[in-house]
Amino acid sequence: MAHLFNRNVLLGVSGGIAAYKSAELVRQLQQLGATVRVVMTRGAQEFITPLTLQALSGNPVHIELLDEQAEMGMGHIELARWADLLLIAPATADLIARLSAGRADDLLSTVALATAAPLMLAPAMNQQMWKDPATTANIDTLSFRGIRIIGPAAGQQACGDIGLGRMEDPSIIADAAACLFQNSHLAGKHIMITAGPTREALDPVRYISNNSSGKMGYALAAAAVDAGAITTLVSGPVTLKPPERIQFLSVQSAQQMLDQCIELIPECDIFIGCAAVADYRPTKMDNQKIKKNQAKMTLQLERNPDIISAVAASKHRPFTVGFAAETNNVIAYARDKMQRKGLDMMVANDVSNHTIGFNSDNNAVTVLWHDGENTLKLASKASIAQQIIHIIAHQTRQNS
Ligand code: C5P
Repeated sequence: MAHLFNRNVLLGVSGGIAAYKSAELVRQLQQLGATVRVVMTRGAQEFITPLTLQALSGNPVHIELLDEQAEMGMGHIELARWADLLLIAPATADLIARLSAGRADDLLSTVALATAAPLMLAPAMNQQMWKDPATTANIDTLSFRGIRIIGPAAGQQACGDIGLGRMEDPSIIADAAACLFQNSHLAGKHIMITAGPTREALDPVRYISNNSSGKMGYALAAAAVDAGAITTLVSGPVTLKPPERIQFLSVQSAQQMLDQCIELIPECDIFIGCAAVADYRPTKMDNQKIKKNQAKMTLQLERNPDIISAVAASKHRPFTVGFAAETNNVIAYARDKMQRKGLDMMVANDVSNHTIGFNSDNNAVTVLWHDGENTLKLASKASIAQQIIHIIAHQTRQNS
């Protein structure tokens, strides 16, 4: 079943009687796994209160474009970047006309212009308004721009008319939204992804580790499943819930991660090393807790195996993709690393920029391969993951 796990859905509500159904839509989207934020037009607030949608979505509702406080919280550009999907339901005839003209005269229409996320509309209006040539022309314009239109449905309307114009059922809208993120780019392929940090034990309670939330690797696993791949996620310790419909293998140390990867690699077509593997481990692990009775302490460390290099050098070598976190000369160092490790592709991450990478929900990366590269602009990790999976699918088709 299609899902919205890991997806940020910005729900735009405009002013029609169907606005009351938006409450149910918030629930349906959440049940499919989405995080939901709501933008309301002034008209929408005549039909349903922001408080209702705030309580249901669990997030403040966004209303005003020219509000200093709101802009200081999450401004319209941030909101536009946050969204993986802008879903407007109900979309009134007036809003559709404004979107078709490219206007930016309230928060919702401005966000619609400012977002790079896909846009989906569920029109709702009187059947005569829907039939009007002006509305038909506006819908044609929006469809031509790639905006998805869902509904309207036919039936009895609030005004007493019968015909096309009712907002589509919330469960149908939520399913259509989820289906937007599914594709078959990796259908039939087996992909393995490493994620999170590794922990190298010093004694039963202490360890050396790396800073890694695992968010990027988990987003890649979700995007791989959405692309139809059989997906194995080998994860170090993180606090995230694994995506559904994957094979999940939990590990602690680099050695355990390597062992799992090497065992399963003959079955894999694609490998993505997204884990922040500890470069060194203690030469020995104490079985008892080390006592702090010395003023100074020296730890002896040895190099951990390089997992991705081992995968790339294995007999049944999959298409192998690494991640390079760099602070300077990002592209040059990443290319060099791609060559040294024998990889097919490298995702270069500029970690000197503190608004992206590591614990952030957003990222901006450059994907490198031997004779090309593609820069992916700042977006949610879910969106970046989906774009990386598309590039991998394209490159593996080229190579085969
Ligand atoms: O050498 P560096 O750690 O910068 O390389 C990063 C890439 O190598 C990532 O893809 C990471 O998952 C992988 N790696 C690994 N095993 C290691 C160290 C890094 O697979 N021991």
